[in-house]
Amino acid sequence: MSYQLSRRQFLLSSASVAATSATVLPGCKLQSNNNQTDQTHRIALLGDVHFHDIHGDFGFNDNEVCIRTMQDSVGSTRMFNENYFVFKATLDDIVAEGIKFVILVGDFSDDGQEAHVDGLKRVLDQYSDEYGLEFFLTHGNHDPTTPYGEDCDKTFLRSDGAGIKVTSNQSDVENFIPSDEVDGVLYSPKMQSLGFMPLMEKLGRFGFQSQPHYHYYETPWKSDKLEDRVYQATSADGTYTVECPDSSYLVEPIEGFWICSVDMNTHVPLDPLGSQWDHDAKGYEDGKVQKPQVLAWLKDVIKRADEQGKTLLVFSHYPAIEYLNYSADDFYYLFADSSYNHKRVPTSETTEELIDCGLKLHFAGHIHINDTAKYVGRNGQTLVNVQAPSLAAYIPAYKKITCYGPDDFEIETKVIEDVPEFDSLFNHYENEIDWRTAKGLDTHWKSMLEVSSYRELMYQHLICLTVNNKSDDWAGICAIFTNQNFHSIG
Ligand SMILES: [Fe+2]
Ligand SMILES: [Fe+2]
Repeated sequence: MSYQLSRRQFLLSSASVAATSATVLPGCKLQSNNNQTDQTHRIALLGDVHFHDIHGDFGFNDNEVCIRTMQDSVGSTRMFNENYFVFKATLDDIVAEGIKFVILVGDFSDDGQEAHVDGLKRVLDQYSDEYGLEFFLTHGNHDPTTPYGEDCDKTFLRSDGAGIKVTSNQSDVENFIPSDEVDGVLYSPKMQSLGFMPLMEKLGRFGFQSQPHYHYYETPWKSDKLEDRVYQATSADGTYTVECPDSSYLVEPIEGFWICSVDMNTHVPLDPLGSQWDHDAKGYEDGKVQKPQVLAWLKDVIKRADEQGKTLLVFSHYPAIEYLNYSADDFYYLFADSSYNHKRVPTSETTEELIDCGLKLHFAGHIHINDTAKYVGRNGQTLVNVQAPSLAAYIPAYKKITCYGPDDFEIETKVIEDVPEFDSLFNHYENEIDWRTAKGLDTHWKSMLEVSSYRELMYQHLICLTVNNKSDDWAGICAIFTNQNFHSIG
């Protein structure tokens, strides 16, 4: 069956979508919940949570420095502080839905800072212990930002409304020069962005390491030990390699149901010691070259799942196909985007390789969009890619997946309309407005504080990001006119 909806058709078909919409995959049967059996598995899939712990332990006595400035938020494609509230509200919703399995498809933290990762672990532990949720994570390009960690600094909001630099680099403190925008500096080792291994140790309970109650667990590296889960990353000129971790895993949390996390983060060493790294966050495009072992393993996993009658759910941080459903070139030419988004679109050669692996259905994040696309391969095989939206950007939503059997999935989009306490930080932003007004600084975003719901806040954030900022971010501008969530930074 051909499935080449144009962008316009796709949007028209979605125009009347209410809070929850169902996507029936081509070739897949739609069944009512009345048909649920013991073989039915329900999963919530959350894209790019980018958790920022507003109560994070940064080593200060003044808790008010634990939020970012609104000025920073309106310059980013996601809001920084409010994702704390929406994440917990979403987990409450998942509990109310009676869903047990929760997948975070990468970029689960702001930038892998230790304080935020500890805060995320605290929340995940709470929902695991109190409500029996079971989490499965993969890494995104924000966690880690580099294989073995690096210094990080961000501008936080001081209680008097000023911006203050919080840094894990002591020399930043010694060399700091105050300005109207950033009036002070604080050192915190918990601002350090963690590397793969500390992340996989801290969050090991959530898929990164085998747990006693799992029915089955494996990695591409024939070992569960973290130190064995490595490959040789090759320098750009091909003259040397440096060891780099990989976090891919296969888990059978309940008999007959396999969850496969494909780590397609790749990092290119800039020196033989591995002290500096580069990465493009292009996912499968670079991953197939840097660590072909992982794709060979994925092919074998799919083959074994088929032979053993397992229901297999495959996810990665990065999309497996052109995620805009045959519209990427239209955007490319219309907006002359020659740099950012287009390089993140997998080539057809890469998608064909994944189809050759036997992959039929794939879930991803990274792009902060909500879209489902289908690629028809050269031999007629198909691959469907489902992009999970971010909770911290317009339109905030998550995916509900019901697996009725190996080839029978129902996928819904649950929009988050409102969030308790979403406006509880607004009084701090009022202080920020006062500070910035006194200094003659830009406050174009102050109308955002007049919203009455979380969804409206995300919409106003998008307006500020694009129209009010007069941004040339074509993706954001498209979002205004299509009422969709196309963001450029993953
Ligand atoms: Fe990303
Ligand atoms: Fe992201």
